[in-house]
Amino acid sequence: MPRRVYIKTFGCQMNERDSERMLALAASSGYAPARVPEEADLILINTCTVRRKPEHKVYSLLGRLEHLKRTRPELKIGVAGCLAQQEGPALLERFPGIDFVLGPDKIRYLPRILGELGENGKRPCIVGFEEDPSQGVLLPLQTKVRAYVNVMQGCDNYCAYCIVPYVRGPEKSRPSGEILEEVRLLAERGVKEVMLLGQNVNAYGKRPPDLTFPQLLAKINEIPGIERIRFVTSHPRDLSDELIEAFGKLEKLCEQIHLPFQSGSDRILERMGRGYSRKDYLEKVRKLRDAVPRIAITADAIVGFPGEKEEDFEDTLRLIEEVEFDGLFSFKYSPRKGTRASRWVDDVPPEEKQRRLEALQALQRSITLKKNRDLEGEVMEVLVEGKGKGEGQMMGRTRCFRVVNFPGEESMVGKLLRVRITEGLQNSLRGEPVA
Ligand code: SAH
Ligand code: SF4
Ligand code: F3S
Repeated sequence: MPRRVYIKTFGCQMNERDSERMLALAASSGYAPARVPEEADLILINTCTVRRKPEHKVYSLLGRLEHLKRTRPELKIGVAGCLAQQEGPALLERFPGIDFVLGPDKIRYLPRILGELGENGKRPCIVGFEEDPSQGVLLPLQTKVRAYVNVMQGCDNYCAYCIVPYVRGPEKSRPSGEILEEVRLLAERGVKEVMLLGQNVNAYGKRPPDLTFPQLLAKINEIPGIERIRFVTSHPRDLSDELIEAFGKLEKLCEQIHLPFQSGSDRILERMGRGYSRKDYLEKVRKLRDAVPRIAITADAIVGFPGEKEEDFEDTLRLIEEVEFDGLFSFKYSPRKGTRASRWVDDVPPEEKQRRLEALQALQRSITLKKNRDLEGEVMEVLVEGKGKGEGQMMGRTRCFRVVNFPGEESMVGKLLRVRITEGLQNSLRGEPVA
């Protein structure tokens, strides 16, 4: 019987990709993936600490695993990800059931840890940041239609509220040769779409010097087999004209961008240290739409930042109305220890944060629904990803990243189809393939 590993992932796409890397490394150490935690010999938890909520979820899972470990003492438990970096050895102290702690920039040491697991009671804690921007080429065990590809690690922006620079370390760009090699291998395995990952992809190639991000995109655009390219996340301050032009020029680059604005109020943006004004943001949106009229724009926003007054919040609502985002991820501000904002009074009461969040989300829901309905009757290119909702339904995505459910069969997976949109719903579209 091979040993089995189960991994639970919290947080962003970067963590999802890191989990794939850990599964691939665990496989090289003789661990096959487990379908359920009950059949695992090793449980890995890839954690997130960006807000209180995900952090809280991680702690409650760790509490439950402590219990499980008492009934199954041979079970090994490893904690990885951003909370592992933040708390380090404190996790081992607080949870005696944890066998090791591994920071997000130390994934390469997983095989070594697994090799020594359980040896004379050692409980390793490997955290901190590597100088080396290279990660090696490591493909996921399971090939899907879309693959995540890391292009950079870390962040140097230190937005006042954000823990990421502390837990992911300084910005560093992965060597372009390695990225291109990984994309080529993914394409050979049948991957059709790549999603390039970084906290601020627009800073790609600055440290160490390499291709610019648009140059990297142009090279990926030439790789046979890859049909679509996307990336997350862009920092509005660093969104260059060169990148905006790439949207018009590179045929595989999808008309979609995630461009978090965080707040529509200049006063709050200044306090957040975002490095752009509301006007700058709107100007970038205008340039994007001039270059690519149908580009889908999504964003992140925070409500209830310290000092956010009603009029600041209204500025945020007005920005949302003005831009008409295709989708929006919105969060209540949550103080993170060690950040600048955590030293300021968290003065927006919880119920007021909740009210602002609900008002913002209601506004965005109506915009999303309207935009989805506006697509009814159009024929769109859909890349088929897998089974859809309901009997005989398949699911895929448009170039603008909307989910489409349509009648079809499994042989369609990985194919590009033309689909007529028959209904625009709140979170997805329904359609019919056309010949
Ligand atoms: N690098 C990305 C964001 C990474 S974190 C960027 O700069 O856009 C994802 C989102 O979580 C952020 O865009 C922000 O909206 C939200 N976020 C980060 N820290 C937060 C905090 N302390 N409280 C509430 N939301 C937060
Ligand atoms: Fe956090 Fe700002 Fe860096 Fe994004 S750019 S990860 S919000 S510090
Ligand atoms: Fe969370 Fe770390 Fe991503 S804190 S959002 S998992 S970079």
